[in-house]
Amino acid sequence: MVEEIKKLKEKLNITIAAHYYEKKEVFELADLTGDSLALAKKTANINNPLIFCGVKFMGESAKILNPNIDVYMPKLADCSMARMAKENLVENNIQLLKENNIDFIPITYINSTAKTKAIVAKEGGLTCTSSNSKKIIEWALSQNKKVFFLPDKNLGTNTAIKLGVKSKIIGEVGWQEADIICFDGHCSVHQLFMPEHIDFYRERYPDIKIAVHPECSPEVVAKADFAGSTSQILEYVKSHKNEKIAIGTEINFVNWIKENINPNIYILSSTKPECPSMNETTLKDLYNLLKSIDEGKGYNKIEVEKDIAKNAKKALERMMELS
Ligand code: 13P
Ligand code: SF4
Repeated sequence: MVEEIKKLKEKLNITIAAHYYEKKEVFELADLTGDSLALAKKTANINNPLIFCGVKFMGESAKILNPNIDVYMPKLADCSMARMAKENLVENNIQLLKENNIDFIPITYINSTAKTKAIVAKEGGLTCTSSNSKKIIEWALSQNKKVFFLPDKNLGTNTAIKLGVKSKIIGEVGWQEADIICFDGHCSVHQLFMPEHIDFYRERYPDIKIAVHPECSPEVVAKADFAGSTSQILEYVKSHKNEKIAIGTEINFVNWIKENINPNIYILSSTKPECPSMNETTLKDLYNLLKSIDEGKGYNKIEVEKDIAKNAKKALERMMELS
C-alpha cells in the first residue's frame, strides 16, 4: 500500500501534509510536517492539490489560506476542543463581555472551527497557535485591551502565567478583573497528564527532564522543565539528546521521537494519551482517497462558505503578520 500511495501521489502531483500526532505510517509518507503554525505556513505556499492528514480545523485553515488549491482530507476527524467552542456559546460569551463593558480583543487558538474564527475576526480579533500564543497575547495587551481567549483555558492560563498577568475563566468569581478571560474549553487528551506523573518520574530518575504541551493543566506545566508546541518539544529533545526526558503530549508523536531522535524517552502518563481524532486516519484511508482522486472522483474536499472563509482568513492573516 505504501508503494501504491507513493506512485499515486507522484502521478497526481499531490502534496501530503501531516501533523506530528498522525499514525506513524501516515506521518512518514508526508511531504510537509510540523506543528499547527508551520503546517498553516507551509500549505499556504503550494500550488498543487493537497491531502491534509490531521484534524478538520487544520484542513480548513489550509483551504482558507490557499483557496485556489483543492484540499482533501482522508477523514473529516474533528478536534474535540474545537467542538467545545460551539458558535452560539462563543457569541453568548462575547455578549456577556460587552454587557460587562469589558474592552477586549478576542483571540482564538487555531484549534477552532472556521465559523468561530470568523466570529472572532468580526470582533477585531485574530488566531494564535501554541507556538506563538505569548507573542499574540502580548500584542493584544499592549493595545490596552483585555483578552478573551478561546477555546483552551489551559493555553490561556499558562500564557498568562508566562506573561505575569491575571487570568480567569469567564463566569468565575472576579472574572471581570482578569487581563485574560478564558473560555471554558480544554483538550481531552492533554487533561490526562497529572502532576503526580511528574513526581513519579522524578522520584525514579532524579536527573530526568519533563517536557509538556501547554494544553496541559497549569499544575502540570508548573512542575515541568519545558512547555511548548509540538515543534518546540522536538527542538527541546534535539538539544537534550543524551538525556532522559518524559514527554506530556500525544503518544504517536512521543513514540516517533523515541524511535527517531532519542531512545531515552518516556510517556508522561499511566494511560495511553491517544488523540482519537488524529488516529482516525489510516494508511488505507489515504490510499482510498488517492485512488478515488485518480478515478476522477475524490471526496472529503474541504469547502468553506465564502463569507465565513473571508472573515476567518482575516483572523489567520493577522496572526501570520504578527508571528
Ligand atoms: P501544535 O500546534 O503544538 O502542533 O498542537 C496542535 C494540537 O492539536 C495539540 O493538541
Ligand atoms: Fe484536539 Fe487535543 Fe487532539 Fe490536539 S490532541 S487535536 S487539541 S483533541
